[in-house]
Amino acid sequence: MITNSPIQIENEPQSNEIRKSVAQFIPKGHKTYTPTQLVIERASGVYLWNPEGRRFIDFASGVLVANLGHDHPYFEERLRHYAEGIPRTAYNTLTGVEIRAAQRLIENLSADKMQQVLWADSGSAGIIKAIWAAQHYQPDKHIILATQYGFHGKKGQAGDITGEKSSNPNVRWLSFPLVMDNRHYDNPEWSAEVLMPKIAAELDTLKREYPNQICMLVTEPYLGAKGSFHPPKWYLRQLNDWCNENDVVFILDEVQSCHGRTGNMYAFQTYGLDPDLVVLGKGLGNGEPVATIVGRAEILESLDYGEASDTYSGNPRACAAILAVLDTFEKFPIVENCRQMQEMIEAGLYQLIEDFEFATYARGEGLVWGLEVDSYSEKTADEIANECVLQCYLQGLHLMGPLAGNVLRVSPPLVISETEVKAGLELMYQAFEQIANTD
Ligand SMILES: Cc1ncc(COP(=O)(O)O)c(C=O)c1O
Repeated sequence: MITNSPIQIENEPQSNEIRKSVAQFIPKGHKTYTPTQLVIERASGVYLWNPEGRRFIDFASGVLVANLGHDHPYFEERLRHYAEGIPRTAYNTLTGVEIRAAQRLIENLSADKMQQVLWADSGSAGIIKAIWAAQHYQPDKHIILATQYGFHGKKGQAGDITGEKSSNPNVRWLSFPLVMDNRHYDNPEWSAEVLMPKIAAELDTLKREYPNQICMLVTEPYLGAKGSFHPPKWYLRQLNDWCNENDVVFILDEVQSCHGRTGNMYAFQTYGLDPDLVVLGKGLGNGEPVATIVGRAEILESLDYGEASDTYSGNPRACAAILAVLDTFEKFPIVENCRQMQEMIEAGLYQLIEDFEFATYARGEGLVWGLEVDSYSEKTADEIANECVLQCYLQGLHLMGPLAGNVLRVSPPLVISETEVKAGLELMYQAFEQIANTD
């Protein structure tokens, strides 16, 4: 239940004071509800410490932002290196760090269509700018296609294409396959033979209804906020091909999936795609607030001077962070580690499903997983999910608040070691035992 009264947790006097002050001075609209409100005093690697000195393993990475973990010594050293002596702002001026960040990103994305970089200061602002660019590129086409149940942010047009309904009269929706569990991909209902013709029919209907009016299609590699739904591999390629064949700008929202999350540096590699524009955020700066749109120059160039500028986008420190992140990925086998740890996480979640009645489905890839829980012992699924987050906290494991009410997000920093994954899964197991034993 969301209330105005601050959450208080036993034996946490300093944390509780902070929780009270936050409730007094910061409107709750700024926060996403969690039943724990962990107060972090210090963070290092995959560990977080509260003011009472209790240690938590971070299974959230913020909202999948701190892919390199916290206070990564090499990242911090590179950040200092690139940030030394640079201006605090470079609005209407040029800096070397900006161009180096753009060049390095393009090199790193390493795909023919990745030609220019347009900065943004948040993921949703990146989505909005990508939409503007597509609209300027094809001004005679007004229809925006979006896949259902996506999350692209809350602001403006990013909010218009989030979810399944829109107040924007130009938005039309396409089905997104909601595969309930990783073990269901082989079920006939999700096979390309069965589902592809249905998606093709949806696309054909839209094309007939709006001849030469469809400007762009925006989608994301997997549905995060909806509860971690990861489509069958063929699905996004089908959308991508259709866009290529019909001169529709294909925009891939990689705000969350970029920088290693899915077991490749970018999810478009995981899914074998060639988007016209990709929007990157979160892990791009490992915590420095930065996002970007990378893609075809002819599309991005259709915006004229000032049409996509704002105060903070392309800020020199943000560009320094982009370079420091890329340096860190180049020096350490972080993406490989993500792939290796995936198996342990997957096995650990299926163990929970096997041993606890209220754990039902697991969905994910790389180090981005969702564990769905169900009602249990007179408690609703949402109540059980919140209890899991709280019990994990009490055991020393930090999870973000549940997705879509009843899905626990498991998304540790990509640098997490085998020992740390094992320890985190054990804490989760103990938390689940507590729930099973008390209810
Ligand atoms: C896939 C995706 N797109 C866009 C956004 C919006 O990003 P921001 O919160 O930085 O505006 C998010 C944020 O969670 C996201 O997960």
